[in-house]
Amino acid sequence: MKVIEAKDYQDMSKLAADYIIRKVSHSPKIKLGLATGGTPLGIYANLIADHQKNGTSYQGVTTFNLDEYIGLSGTDPNSYRYYMNHNLFDHIDVQKQNTFVPRGNADDIEKECIDYEKLIKNHGGIDLQILGIGSNGHIGFNEPGTSFDTETHVVQLTASTRQANARYFNSLEEVPTKAITMGIASIMRSKEILLLISGEKKTEALNRLLSGNVDENFPASVLKRHPYVTIIADKAAIADLKVNS
Ligand code: F6R
Repeated sequence: MKVIEAKDYQDMSKLAADYIIRKVSHSPKIKLGLATGGTPLGIYANLIADHQKNGTSYQGVTTFNLDEYIGLSGTDPNSYRYYMNHNLFDHIDVQKQNTFVPRGNADDIEKECIDYEKLIKNHGGIDLQILGIGSNGHIGFNEPGTSFDTETHVVQLTASTRQANARYFNSLEEVPTKAITMGIASIMRSKEILLLISGEKKTEALNRLLSGNVDENFPASVLKRHPYVTIIADKAAIADLKVNS
């Protein structure tokens, strides 16, 4: 795993956006795996600014999001489909029909999981997956204890993840209790992974990722087995690191 140190959140976002822009310019039909949450917001803002200023085109790009809450429709402001439209897709020239987010309100959720996995495979897999990390090491919504063999599946969200995401809802009770997520095996099949880590709240996770063992109780540790992972972390996240690579 290669670690790039960014000065701060803005710098991390710019470095990551530039990285993605280079990939898209080089491979206009790239398949991108995308994440939601607070961390990638700055990246998406940079991608939009670059599209408007330099005209980087996403017309040939296909995107697959990591996850979606169960029970929310794509028009619900708390759904990840809404987040993606609002924070990125509506402002660039990607073709909406080529943007995929699991449907959290599908009639048959188990079938939705199987179909989503097939969809990724039928498109030849993900070339570059963007990831954030939970303080407990979760990637996607794969919480500690998730088998490394999992494909897209339904998860019961932990209390800590619901608590962390409650800031986007009116109350904790409104945060859905279940979600669909790409599995660990699905994520590991991506040809390349770009992991973003920002802020002191993530220092412990970064520390454990870099210096701990590969362990299903810390899902992100599986990334050590991936041949092509780049971490961009800001100073605040790196600050107290005991090990630096
Ligand atoms: C989001 C996702 C999650 C987040 C993680 C960090 O699609 O899959 O794993 O990346 O919860 O969230 P933030 O960036 O809000 O700290």
